[in-house]
Amino acid sequence: MKSPIDLSFHLFPGGSFGEFNLPKELSTVLSHGKGSKVYDVFGKEFIDVSLSWGSVILGHAHPAIVEAVRKQIEKGSSFSYVNEPALELAQELVRAISCAEKIRFASSGTEATFYGLRFARAYTGRTKVLKFEGSYHGAHDVGVLSLFPKKLIPFPHPEATSAGISRRVQEEVLIAPYNDLEMTRKIIDQYGDELACVMMEPLQRCTPPLEGFLEGIRKITKEKKILLIFDEVVTGFRLAYGGAQEYYKVVPDLAAFGKALGGGYPIGAICGREDILDLCTESILGEERYVWFASTLAGNPVSAAASLATLGELKKPGAYEELHRLGRRLREGYRNILRERGIAGQVLGDGPLCQVLFTEKPVVDYRSGFRADREKGRRFMLGLFEKGIFLNPMGTKMYLSLAHNDRDIGKILDISREVLKKIF
Ligand SMILES: Cc1ncc(COP(=O)(O)O)c(C=O)c1O
Repeated sequence: MKSPIDLSFHLFPGGSFGEFNLPKELSTVLSHGKGSKVYDVFGKEFIDVSLSWGSVILGHAHPAIVEAVRKQIEKGSSFSYVNEPALELAQELVRAISCAEKIRFASSGTEATFYGLRFARAYTGRTKVLKFEGSYHGAHDVGVLSLFPKKLIPFPHPEATSAGISRRVQEEVLIAPYNDLEMTRKIIDQYGDELACVMMEPLQRCTPPLEGFLEGIRKITKEKKILLIFDEVVTGFRLAYGGAQEYYKVVPDLAAFGKALGGGYPIGAICGREDILDLCTESILGEERYVWFASTLAGNPVSAAASLATLGELKKPGAYEELHRLGRRLREGYRNILRERGIAGQVLGDGPLCQVLFTEKPVVDYRSGFRADREKGRRFMLGLFEKGIFLNPMGTKMYLSLAHNDRDIGKILDISREVLKKIF
């Protein structure tokens, strides 16, 4: 089929909305998605393991979400005020999330983590924050410091992954190696009095926490009266219904959510201790600790309706067993292929997440992952894309949804085997 669309990629810097830096011959335009598949305007079918960066946890156009959204749209799309679906959703989130005594909605994960940082600074009266090398907390200035560092300078100094971040901001962010409790403790000991919070992805990208790491961070932050913020934008409603804090049994002071929570509709949320969240109460405007919090489209009823429908499906018995089973099958399949072909590689992930890195040594943090052969990684990802696996060709994680099945996993593995044969 010939495209009815003018493929004017030059309209977009980098030829996409971002991060899909595909060579011209692989660039395409999507027309629709259904279940675990997306289709381009030429009629090509892809198994989607990008899932809108993990948002579409039930798969595309899930009937329960379509129905809920359709019903809500007729009743209005945004009020910027407390409304029925958003209230119902807040009640459900407070039930589901251990740290959540109160909640404020935002429109994206970036907004949610941004407000988490602001709350922490306001509450503690301190300005510095600690994050882990290679973690992503959204597109704001803190979120992209030492996201993809190349110079690997000594800790705790950050390396900006984006231009346009002021020196002042960089001086207020400390970087620690993920999974290295001793080094993190040293940094916290040195800067503790100035630290407002530790913000972390409990499962960083696809790298799981080593035994005792999260518990250790929780203990140190409590001792030093530093707030612990879990960025659950990826782990939330993915590793378990109650997120990473349920899965790993470590409860932070605040947690940011997004992505899967909206089932593919825009949403963000920051939740946690009441004494912290209450700082954004307008009646204390003008006081020193007052937190300005505003977001025009936050709590909008369409996203809330989509979210409630998503949570309704995720709550059904067996949903998380299935997500974990699919993830395990994919990771085990990759491990077998690497073993069969004698390829030096690591298969990372937990739950419905998977990442393959071509390096001999175990990956426990950014620097051990940085040693991986990125050129081969990129060829692998492009090879998969060419053969009908829709994924981020920068070689980050693969996401699975409840719409994926064993046939999809089998096909992904078959194609992977074929592509790897050509590379190794
Ligand atoms: C862990 C984490 N936090 C925050 C964000 C930002 O979320 P959003 O893209 O919705 O702003 C992302 C997005 O990939 C993420 O992976």
